[in-house]
Amino acid sequence: MTLETINPSGTVAWQKLRAHFEKMEYVSMKEMFVNDKQRAEKFNIEWHDFLVDFSKNKITEETINLLVELANEVGLKNAIEAYFSGEAINQTENRAVLHTALRAKENDVVLVDGINVMPEVYQVKKDIQNFTSEIIDGTRKGYTNKTFTDVVNIGIGGSDLGPAMVVEALQYYKNHLNVHFVSNVDGDHVNEIIKKLNPETTLFVIVSKTFTTQETLSNAETIRAWFLNHAEQEDVAKHFVAVSTNIKNVTQFGIAEENIFPMWDWVGGRFSLWSAVGLTISLAVGFDHFNQLLEGANKMDTHFKETPFDKNIPVVLALLSIWYNNFFGAETEALIPYTQYLQKLAPYLQQGIMESNGKSIARDGNPVNYQTGTIIWGEPGTNSQHAFFQLIHQGTKLIPTDFIGFKKALYGNKDHHDKLMSNFFAQTEALLMGKTEKQVQAEFEKANITGEKATFLLPFKVFDGDKPTNTLLIEKLTPETLGSLIALYEHKIFVQGIIWNIFSYDQWGVELGKQLANSILSEIHTGEIKNHDSSTHFLLKKYLQ
Ligand code: F6P
Repeated sequence: MTLETINPSGTVAWQKLRAHFEKMEYVSMKEMFVNDKQRAEKFNIEWHDFLVDFSKNKITEETINLLVELANEVGLKNAIEAYFSGEAINQTENRAVLHTALRAKENDVVLVDGINVMPEVYQVKKDIQNFTSEIIDGTRKGYTNKTFTDVVNIGIGGSDLGPAMVVEALQYYKNHLNVHFVSNVDGDHVNEIIKKLNPETTLFVIVSKTFTTQETLSNAETIRAWFLNHAEQEDVAKHFVAVSTNIKNVTQFGIAEENIFPMWDWVGGRFSLWSAVGLTISLAVGFDHFNQLLEGANKMDTHFKETPFDKNIPVVLALLSIWYNNFFGAETEALIPYTQYLQKLAPYLQQGIMESNGKSIARDGNPVNYQTGTIIWGEPGTNSQHAFFQLIHQGTKLIPTDFIGFKKALYGNKDHHDKLMSNFFAQTEALLMGKTEKQVQAEFEKANITGEKATFLLPFKVFDGDKPTNTLLIEKLTPETLGSLIALYEHKIFVQGIIWNIFSYDQWGVELGKQLANSILSEIHTGEIKNHDSSTHFLLKKYLQ
């Protein structure tokens, strides 16, 4: 079965949403809260350790009903079925999209081309588990018989961002191994890492689904050359492992087949941290924690598959985002975790969201006539409050924002955590309520600010409020809740791609830059600049001088 191709803007629900938007555009959220004391109870979802409060949005029950109607009209239910059951929904590459199989239960059956992939998935999990424990407990040793102290993940994009984000997020659960990430083809990046390493005690994990990525291969070659300055060719086997679908290229690089962890073409790079791409995560926090991450994701998969749309966290968040993107004209969304551990969540999701849904051709091959992928950005609170929050509060742009906070701190420092969380709650309240003229005048009176000064200052001190936010309040940052959180956003991406009638799982747009970079590189090598626009020509000439 292929995905249906329905132009969302031509649906009945879309027309109704348009008419509804005319009524809602200037409705005040503040007033809706005043008029309906049950609003918070109506618009929240409690699920295991998650509470998602979406009452601070420009919505009524009618909005949610119409958005759900839209989801129904574009066939979201069938699409979810096709997604989980291994249909080739990545139609431009004729591939299934089955990162969900990587966290499915061992006795589940997931068919790809009629073959159950679960035995293979669990075999690789077993390999990850064994390898992890041998490195951590020191059974596997380096070429001078020393135990490993450092692990370097060499990869880029999905082969870097996911593992790097999770290792950072779960550092509380980390063991003794020092973990490093080399991604950029910038030679200074790899050299900065190399200088911290001892070749005798460092394990290198080369992660590349295709094993053709320029950045990863260059970094791997540089690191191997450095390693061989200290060790012999035969020692490479003890220190280098790879994660890839491309066994031929990996063996050509010099890594033996028994040191290759396979992955599959039905796992997209940006959704691959659940596979052996997450080997570095398993090494950093141990296999049990890695497995708990997978279990958390699996729980969210079940919630997503089985829950009615109006109580379904990924669906509701996706629909709200469509409401702002396609009706209010919001261009960006912010994501603010109130924990330093999640500082890499926004960059990680930038790839997931923008590489997936940054598309302008509909599934029928015609250009879309509506907005698609949102721009996502963010930084942890409270730091971000002191950086860009001014624009969210008083700028001219509408920026729907997700606030992610945890009830408990990992080290249990209540004083700090209460301060952190009071900011978390205060910000969404301030964004909703703003500050009226009356409130500002009252403050002026107290501070004895009067006359011309008060008149002058007044407009600058007023906040309109009415800025939409979602609050995700989670019990505690654990491998399991993190797994659920990541899976939540993965499914949000899926729902939006279905509604926007685009293919979310290819990334042709990234290819053009890669091709041009390759041809420019050979021009740089030969010194012969070929046909370019005059600006590029001029810049290349200056670079070569
Ligand atoms: O940036 C494009 C991309 O293909 C991503 O989708 C992918 O995660 C990344 O490059 C790395 O690819 P690979 O794992 O094949 O090296």
